[in-house]
Amino acid sequence: MERVVRVLFPECREEALEDLYADLRFPEIAGRPFLYLNMVATADGAAHLGGRTRGMGGAADRVAFRRLREHCDVVLVGAGTVRLEGYGPPRLDPRAQERRRRRGSPPVPRLAVVSARLHLDPSLKLFAEPRNRPVVITTEDADPFRRRALEAVAEVVAFGRGSVDLPQALTWLYESGVRRVLCEGGPSLNAHLLAAKVVDELFLTVAPLLAGGAAGRIVAGPVGGPLRLALRELREYGGELLARYQVVR
Ligand SMILES: NC(=O)c1ccc[n+]([C@@H]2O[C@H](COP(=O)([O-])OP(=O)(O)OC[C@H]3O[C@@H](n4cnc5c(N)ncnc54)[C@H](OP(=O)(O)O)[C@@H]3O)[C@@H](O)[C@H]2O)c1
Repeated sequence: MERVVRVLFPECREEALEDLYADLRFPEIAGRPFLYLNMVATADGAAHLGGRTRGMGGAADRVAFRRLREHCDVVLVGAGTVRLEGYGPPRLDPRAQERRRRRGSPPVPRLAVVSARLHLDPSLKLFAEPRNRPVVITTEDADPFRRRALEAVAEVVAFGRGSVDLPQALTWLYESGVRRVLCEGGPSLNAHLLAAKVVDELFLTVAPLLAGGAAGRIVAGPVGGPLRLALRELREYGGELLARYQVVR
């Protein structure tokens, strides 16, 4: 084994970096998909460096990012992150695609973007994959002109007024056959999901960095009091800590 991850909890062992999160199992939840968050933060809690996550995650975070995508049906992301991080269509390497095919899943997950204002340019690269059209999840009172423009490049669905009713959106995804949703942020969407009590697990990479300054954290907004997490797994690779938490209800 060349690139070795140290598993520190619940038992001490070693595994190859390539095997990180290879055998994840998630339970089925009645009526909505299982939802897990994947985020990276610096040791002082910053969720970005100057507005982007670039430069935060190292080798293990990159493997985790791809592997967590491999296990989901839908990648859910807030419009702020799409705009700032320049999201494109989800991509996986051919071996990951083959593993998904063997499990009976499409080769790559579908992207779902949450937005009330619909300030999303239909020419963005994330809309440029007609074989895997993204979903735009918006509100019933969203701007009809923006909505019509996006309907040319995406499936647009609406739940709630003012802001998206996320439990309703998740029920719709479940009824469409979606069983596992990976949310990649950002912090505002995370807060809405946590407040709605629909988050099951958090995968958090703590990068060995101090950002300083006033960068926001991985959850931006009230969540109904401090939510308790149960540590399920902890790994270390190259100074990065990879924690897997369960949200306790
Ligand atoms: N550390 C990490 O792992 C990580 C991951 C992702 C992002 N980030 C960072 O987070 C920052 C962006 O933060 P952010 O909080 O703006 O990101 P965000 O949560 O992705 O985007 C916020 C936007 O998402 C939409 N949204 C979220 N919840 C909604 C709801 N319930 N109903 C309707 N729309 C909803 C709204 O879009 P509209 O404005 O279009 O209505 C809102 O303005 C960036 O600096 C990025 O680098 C960090």
